[in-house]
Amino acid sequence: MNRLIIVIFLICSGISVSGESLYIPELLDGTDAVLKIQEGKLELDGSQSSTLGYNGNYLGPTLRFFQGDWADIKVQNSLKEETTLHWHGMHIPAEFDGGPHQVIPAGGNWNPRFQIRQNAATLWYHPHLMGKTAEQVYKGLAGMIIIEDDFSKNLNIPSDYGVDDIPLILQDRRVDSSGQFRYRPAMPDIMHGYSGNVLLTNGQVYPEIETEGGIIRFRILNGSNSSLMRIRFESGKTFRVIASDGGFLPVSADMDEIILSPGERFELLADFSQKGSDSLICDVLNVGGFKALQIESSGRKKGSMEEVNTNRDFIIPGETDIGEERYFKMETGGMRNFTINSRTMDMKRIDFEVPGGQAEVWTVENVSRGMMQILHSFHVHDVQFRIIDIDGNPPPDHLAGPKDTVFILPGETVRFILNFQDYNGIYMYHCHFLEHEDNGMMGQFEVIQEAG
Ligand code: C2O
Ligand code: CU
Ligand code: CU
Repeated sequence: MNRLIIVIFLICSGISVSGESLYIPELLDGTDAVLKIQEGKLELDGSQSSTLGYNGNYLGPTLRFFQGDWADIKVQNSLKEETTLHWHGMHIPAEFDGGPHQVIPAGGNWNPRFQIRQNAATLWYHPHLMGKTAEQVYKGLAGMIIIEDDFSKNLNIPSDYGVDDIPLILQDRRVDSSGQFRYRPAMPDIMHGYSGNVLLTNGQVYPEIETEGGIIRFRILNGSNSSLMRIRFESGKTFRVIASDGGFLPVSADMDEIILSPGERFELLADFSQKGSDSLICDVLNVGGFKALQIESSGRKKGSMEEVNTNRDFIIPGETDIGEERYFKMETGGMRNFTINSRTMDMKRIDFEVPGGQAEVWTVENVSRGMMQILHSFHVHDVQFRIIDIDGNPPPDHLAGPKDTVFILPGETVRFILNFQDYNGIYMYHCHFLEHEDNGMMGQFEVIQEAG
């Protein structure tokens, strides 16, 4: 794992006291969900911060769908400002993607209708308003999506939501002396990440879960704006990574730490058959280690990872018949100058057209110059891609499955294969470090399916 050694995390012990039991976002049937975007307040250590949420003060409900479902969702924007609602990781018609073009005015409504045409996965939803994504996400607009299908339903793994199948939205926030987390990034924050002094797990500081034991499944989302996170257990316990952004891995991976860049998800299984307590630790790059979750096991239930097999093939249609090959140069030229192929995002410009139904290979390079050692990632809307190689080396197992967001170190080049099927229209690609995205590191392409 050479590539990860380059990233050096500071380890310090977070000053956090565990106590509250973990908040589990309400689970809603996604097909007819009503999401009201509203203002809220979040209590942190006795002080309150103004926040935004879906159907509540902070974050939003978890939406669950089954493959093949038709969704008819009512989104109500009760804010005094515009927003959008993007389904990150979802294969979806462009008009309902919720990108910068689908603005929901202040006080307005939006009614996306689409079919779930993808495999079981952990996705998420968040705003995507041009130039305002970072601020709205920071204030609390984010929620998880769980897609199930026949494959996932028939697996012998935990799937009792909130009990042994635990959603974890990890976010760092910068809380000021009055307890507010205001969004006021200075130049270094924009360049290197708007990192915080507090780590929130589903909106709480170091909450706790109690379990009977056995195997626990965690669905982890790096919901931060621009912080690189490394996840591990305090005990050093090995866990099994079974799924990445878009679903189950072809080959699951036993690991003792894993890195997530903003927007990435991994599902992991860990064995808590032994009585005792452990903590999930989240090391935030350039900041330090935070305790994210305390896990208390009574050890009554025994489990074993031995019979668990979640492996699922992941093949891009048409992999052996590649059409276009495209190159993307991610570059930071200095002050507020974040470009892809030397251009910043322009809503009125389509950067390229993509013929639908044909596999393509995209090469993305993080060009770093001199002092500009800036991390980037690359996220593509509408489809999941398969990484071919990273600096010429095949990806490790946990990066060899369905991905919609890939982290790219300074100087590194990632190649992946993808194929846009079913739908026409305009989709985004961008760096998912939100301050970079809002400062122009985004582009758009139009998918055009062959007629007939
Ligand atoms: Cu999670 Cu284009 O975004
Ligand atoms: Cu997205
Ligand atoms: Cu970036």
